[in-house]
Amino acid sequence: MRSFGSDNHAGAHPKILASLQQANVDHAPAYGTDDWSARAEKAFQTLFGTKAESFFVFNGTAANVLALRACLKPYETVLCAEVSHLNVDECGAPEFFTGAKLQPLPHDQGLLSIETLKAALIRRGDQHFSQARAVSLTQPTEYGTCYSLAQIREICVWAKREGLFVHIDGARLANAVVSLKTTFQEMLTEAGADVVSFGGTKNGLVFGEAVVFLNPKLAEGFKYVRKQSAQLPSKTRFVAAQFLAYLEGDLWREIAEHALAQARELREGLTGLDGVEITRPTESNAVFAKLPQPWIKRLREHYFFYVWDEKTFECRLMTSWDTRPDDIRGLIRHIKELCV
Ligand SMILES: Cc1ncc(COP(=O)(O)O)c(C=O)c1O
Repeated sequence: MRSFGSDNHAGAHPKILASLQQANVDHAPAYGTDDWSARAEKAFQTLFGTKAESFFVFNGTAANVLALRACLKPYETVLCAEVSHLNVDECGAPEFFTGAKLQPLPHDQGLLSIETLKAALIRRGDQHFSQARAVSLTQPTEYGTCYSLAQIREICVWAKREGLFVHIDGARLANAVVSLKTTFQEMLTEAGADVVSFGGTKNGLVFGEAVVFLNPKLAEGFKYVRKQSAQLPSKTRFVAAQFLAYLEGDLWREIAEHALAQARELREGLTGLDGVEITRPTESNAVFAKLPQPWIKRLREHYFFYVWDEKTFECRLMTSWDTRPDDIRGLIRHIKELCV
């Protein structure tokens, strides 16, 4: 099967599998005390600055939930976009594990504006009202758009002034760095973000994500939070080895450049076709387009993809590290056949 359903549908990158194989020698200490984990910690510091502290977890939901546990008390609130994965795709895990409240806010193409955030900051100090303590931004967003550096900076400066932490859901963070032609450090550390859910699985790993603290104060005690939340991997060398392959030697960049280039090709190929309405800017590895309903079943005989909105038949077509030019050409050909 070839799929445009999600970058989760792709297998693992061969260099990441090779690194796993290389780590599969002899014995090694467990729970993050192995050499691979020490090297991975350094690799994260190379990307985010020497103050960064990283902790592996098993999946993206855990990274988000635990990052927020570090920021929030149970009587506090995190401001997030209505469409955020936190709000709609984590089965209430953030509320369940933190005890805190999510406050979903209106967005424009997945992006929260500073005006919306400011308007949401109400009843501060009112004991009857759950108190805002964090903002969560998804970068790139669930609609494949990216916050600009200026937007992130503006939100971080305001958040700091208001005593709020800034969490970044970066399940596909490398795609935003490549799309914005920037660095992890410039985009987040220098902007003043506090903690990042750093994605691996969607970018070529078998599994594994990292919680990366840019604000070292928040990392205090986090090892206990992770263990208490049942997210401390024991054979950490196998998560670390994957991240080493991904981070050292800039494989992250190669993977993101490929996925983005394929998404741009797809967008170009769909642009102007009768019956196809592209609905979102393509700033990372997803193309959103409305397709006539009868086409969807026909197309899915060849390629899987998700209908994002059952009312409008807006579909999400997602590329990944292993999308082939043939996949793109094939999908466009099938759509063109339906156009006539
Ligand atoms: C933006 C975003 N954040 C977090 C996650 C959570 O990842 P997981 O499915 O590994 O829990 C996803 C997964 O689709 C995602 O798209």
